[in-house]
Amino acid sequence: MKFGFFDDARKEYVITTPCTPLPWINYLGSENFFTLLSNTAGGYSFYRDARLRRLTRYRYNNAPLDSEGFHLYIRDNDTVWNPGWQPVQTSLDRYECRHGLGYSVIEGQKNNLTVRQELTVPLGDNCLLMRVTLRNEGGTAKTVSLFPYLEFCLWDAQDDASNFQRNYSTGEVEIEPCAVYHKTEYRERRDHYAVFWSNRRPDAYDTSREAFLGVYGSPAKPAAVFGEGCTGSVAHGWQPIAAMEFVLSLQPGETECLIFGLGYIENPQTEKWESPSVINKRPAHAMIARYQDRFAFDTVLASLHDYWRGLLGGYQAATGNEKLDRMVNIWNQYQCMVTFNMSRSASYFESGMGRGMGFRDSCQDLLGFVHMIPQRARERILDIAATQFPDGSAYHQYQPLTKKGNLDIGSGFNDDPLWLIAGTDAYLRETGDWSILDEACAFDNDLSLSQPLLEHLRRSFRYTATHLGPHKLPLIGRADWNDCLNLNCFSEHPGESFQISGPSEGPVAESVFIAGMFVKYGRAWADICRHIGLADESADAEQAVAEMEAAVLDAGWDGSWFRRAYDAFGNVVGGAACEEGKIFIEPQGMCVMAGIGKVSGQAAQALKSVEEWLDSKYGIVLLQPAYTRYHLELGEISSYPPGYKENAGIFCHNNPWIVCAEAELGHGDRAFQVYRRTCPAFIEDISEIHRTEPYVYSQMIAGKDAPTFGEGKNSWLTGTAAWTFLSISQAILGVKPTLDGLQIDPCIPSSVREFSVSRRYRGALYKITVHNPAGVCSGVRSVLMDGAEIVGNVLPVQPDGKTVNVEVFLGD
Ligand code: BGC
Repeated sequence: MKFGFFDDARKEYVITTPCTPLPWINYLGSENFFTLLSNTAGGYSFYRDARLRRLTRYRYNNAPLDSEGFHLYIRDNDTVWNPGWQPVQTSLDRYECRHGLGYSVIEGQKNNLTVRQELTVPLGDNCLLMRVTLRNEGGTAKTVSLFPYLEFCLWDAQDDASNFQRNYSTGEVEIEPCAVYHKTEYRERRDHYAVFWSNRRPDAYDTSREAFLGVYGSPAKPAAVFGEGCTGSVAHGWQPIAAMEFVLSLQPGETECLIFGLGYIENPQTEKWESPSVINKRPAHAMIARYQDRFAFDTVLASLHDYWRGLLGGYQAATGNEKLDRMVNIWNQYQCMVTFNMSRSASYFESGMGRGMGFRDSCQDLLGFVHMIPQRARERILDIAATQFPDGSAYHQYQPLTKKGNLDIGSGFNDDPLWLIAGTDAYLRETGDWSILDEACAFDNDLSLSQPLLEHLRRSFRYTATHLGPHKLPLIGRADWNDCLNLNCFSEHPGESFQISGPSEGPVAESVFIAGMFVKYGRAWADICRHIGLADESADAEQAVAEMEAAVLDAGWDGSWFRRAYDAFGNVVGGAACEEGKIFIEPQGMCVMAGIGKVSGQAAQALKSVEEWLDSKYGIVLLQPAYTRYHLELGEISSYPPGYKENAGIFCHNNPWIVCAEAELGHGDRAFQVYRRTCPAFIEDISEIHRTEPYVYSQMIAGKDAPTFGEGKNSWLTGTAAWTFLSISQAILGVKPTLDGLQIDPCIPSSVREFSVSRRYRGALYKITVHNPAGVCSGVRSVLMDGAEIVGNVLPVQPDGKTVNVEVFLGD
């Protein structure tokens, strides 16, 4: 069942009922000010850090769900309703929500009144703008009251949700005729406040939650809206809010338009006050003035459209398959940008108070956005590298505001170092900017330990090469990519963190997955060395890679697939002899992507085993058989009920590894089959089962062992975005940046006879058409560039600003 449809021309998803299976959200803002917004106007805003600078309150786990946000109440005689249906839930005569790139439009109609609520965050400014348009569609005049309402958060979202003995006494506001200022803690160490304003003077207002909702009231039944209107309350402590009341009269056919804004203002220490106890509002007044008239909103939207057109213009495909095109050209790239902005911090599944930026997560996210914003990818790489330790290991997470490694979790995740090579390699392939390798970059955030980035990569490589276990495979440490396979943890007490209990290093437990990574990214390191003239170092690296490959084919091969690991006792994890967890997806994907066993046949056999053991109609599950009990020696993975998360869930992040692996072997039909099974646009029709947004990937879909098979969770902030983009743009459609130019090497379903891709690469535009007259899956026969045949399939780098036409012919 569908709950909306894609409007590709406008790059929007249109939701046609407010009763979606879960709130379906959008992200507004792409610089410093962000808003999460659901299809019923639920959500919250923050400035830069979702924990430390939370502007509005949101109660996760609340019941009813999603009842705080940016709601508008309409009182029309005895009927109270919201254009987004929530929170009063009065049935509407018409409803529609359009989530677009950086903006959303919610429109509701009731009793001949249409109310349109448009929300966006302007580029270059720290505010949320909301344009509200009311239109009397009926034949008689109407007088209605409009109440916008939001609740402030007392800045630190964690403290706000727990430290009531203090913060019920700290709330302070100031009020102007058209604005409510939230200035809690401004008297002391803060130099920032929030402002909610209107471009029209309200008839009344409230700033105390109790006054507006009632002590025992709720957003679903605000006392002021259902009773006598706003009371003019001034919040002193408790829970400051901003609510306004406007009485509006509309003749038949008449329209009224109001602009609202929620801004974040920081003042220099010396200019905090206008007069004793009165905040300096000058910057707020300037902000309000920027958006006074309703057309300013159109200008904001127009710049936003240009911004996104520019970002997405780097890769545009025309495949003849509209579902595929809309994912590649719009939504997958959009999700990659959102993961760039948010990492894993704020979504409807990430509270904004939890983890910092992941070392491995951020390196992988980069694979999906480097082609859109190479300059910011460069900064990100250098930030990440500065959290590496001198021995090449790395802090597993760092804090976005301070950019410092996170001591709580520390290091010991032994895949981390290699992801830095993966991210830098992707950057070099995209940009050819070799100067990044010379950038001085701290170790352990200590500038006195700075070394060129090249040295960081060298130590990443060496760290893995020198931390081997009994089978000459890399030691796993706390965990590798699979954070839940904790082979040195042995946690027996509830509440202990699986991530940091037990020793960070064990001398026995080894990872075949990291071995696969070492072969793949170790080769990338060898290529980088060769490119900059370090021939000996390159040869040494190749040698170490060859030895690792041999170790994988020896101790990492189980007979029909690659093993997953060896545990702390030296027992196989992920082998046929295991009672549960016989086969895992990760080593099959990574080892085959690395080309291990490609010539000798193990690679093809491993992928056959994946199909046989792990396939399901909704995607490939992470392992089989699922763990039915807690295994002390395996850790968190066996803490989940069968079918969920890493315990045999469909972990969407590593499905594209199988796509890339199948493409590596030239299996175009299978690669596309795997791609489409988890691809949101292809499963839009089962939204009642999948439940999460049909325009973005979720981290996990419940696997075949789960009672809720097919149900998605953790939408938006997942490495799935980057890897699926890579799998479709590079592995299937075959447009691959290399160190020397753009390689064209598609691996497509045999039924596809032609497609084209327009790709911006190092300043030039490549208009590529691929012809497949013989219906093959892969194999480039010839390439013409501006009519002339080139040798091989790597398009040489073109001068800045040039457009070239490329014709590619597949077949023998
Ligand atoms: C984490 C990743 C990890 C994955 C698999 C995600 O929640 O952010 O770092 O690789 O889970 O365990």
